[in-house]
Amino acid sequence: MTARPWILRPGLLNPGAFTPPGDKSITHRAILLAGLAAGDSTIRGGNPGADADSSLAAMRALGAEGGRRADGAIPVRGTGGVLREPAAPIDCGNSGTTLRLLAGILAGAPIQAVLTGDDSLRRRPVDRVIRPLRAMGAHLRAAEDDRLPPLEIRGGGLHATDFPDATPSAQVASCILFAALAARGRTSVRTAPGVRDHTVFVLRAFGIEVEHDGTGDGGARLALTGPQTPRGAAIDVPGDPSAAAFFLAAAAASPGVRIEARGMNLNPARLGLLDSLREMGATVEIAPRGEAAGEPVGDVAVTGPAQLVAADVPAARIPAMVDEVPAWAVAAAVARGTSRLAGAGELRVKESDRLRSLATNLTALGIAAEESPEGLAITGGRPTAGAVRAHGDHRIAMAFAMLATLTDGHVEVDDAGAVATSFPGFESTFRALGGTLELPSARSLESPR
Ligand code: S3P
Repeated sequence: MTARPWILRPGLLNPGAFTPPGDKSITHRAILLAGLAAGDSTIRGGNPGADADSSLAAMRALGAEGGRRADGAIPVRGTGGVLREPAAPIDCGNSGTTLRLLAGILAGAPIQAVLTGDDSLRRRPVDRVIRPLRAMGAHLRAAEDDRLPPLEIRGGGLHATDFPDATPSAQVASCILFAALAARGRTSVRTAPGVRDHTVFVLRAFGIEVEHDGTGDGGARLALTGPQTPRGAAIDVPGDPSAAAFFLAAAAASPGVRIEARGMNLNPARLGLLDSLREMGATVEIAPRGEAAGEPVGDVAVTGPAQLVAADVPAARIPAMVDEVPAWAVAAAVARGTSRLAGAGELRVKESDRLRSLATNLTALGIAAEESPEGLAITGGRPTAGAVRAHGDHRIAMAFAMLATLTDGHVEVDDAGAVATSFPGFESTFRALGGTLELPSARSLESPR
């Protein structure tokens, strides 16, 4: 694929409002369950990115029918729980959520399938889903000693299993619950405090009975008694906090600028960034407006103070902002003092090693940033002009577009093509809010300037 470089000019974003794309996590779950379900489903307002397309293509390869309509809605005719053995390996593209959640569904199906993906996805661990799915009775194999994709699965004959240790990964818990649909008896899994629980609400929307109890420490115990087959459903997907995060963090970093994200998912497991921005001195207003897909929805506005101040992120908050750390780094980069993150080792196995991508790119723009094995320390200052590398990671590209608005010169991003995985409308939203983004040809950036 040809690179999609950006040149970004400085200048604060304008005050304004925007509607983020549909929540990617909920969209994946809805597409996968719609594909498995008996009957027809419609997913409205789903995330328009390539990752969701990977989930849709995967379910088509397994016998479901469906595609995107011009209005963005996704009608799906499900397989009724009877998956077809795919003729070729299923390409999950850049999407870790597709691969790890689909592994749970395939573990319950008496067919053989191989899941693979792009260069980035083939570097991301799958042992975390192999272990529990083997414990339930599925047969799985993966490259590099069962650590990395391609992941080969021969499913069927699952037995219900109790997983007593709390997992910090929503993908792992969801994978287990999806497998539990096909296991006879009650499967239960615990999640650590702050881990997103969308799977419970999406399963319920598809008619599945699932238990969801707090464990007193902010974590949860989820349980499902199988076998159960999802029934077709109509789902309205709320706006994605992880997409909105970039503009909200940019507002926090822009004195006096108020930016509002409309129709955003207000599930507390996705709002850790807002707590951090508030602690750094930003004004955060949350106006609830109802519900979608069983979750609270509303408008969120952030206004930047005259000067942000540094604040540390407690390790316990990481699950509730696991995808928002690149956005947080934008605020930390202009806050007075040093902001630190701890307990964030998971960020090293996202679409890129985000602790490293952030540290090297911030340094390239004159901001002191130091990575540690599980964290990052950023000392705010005045970012300068420079060139950064997105490392094929959508969230790194979007974070540096935001930081560019706060610099004293232009910022080049080598290749922002990955933004299409989660937020294909990002460039137009950025421009609509006053950002200046040019799309030079890849070659013009390679020549000496
Ligand atoms: C996701 C869970 C998180 C998150 C990812 C989406 C999900 O991953 O980073 O972007 O939809 O369940 P982990 O479960 O690995 O923390």
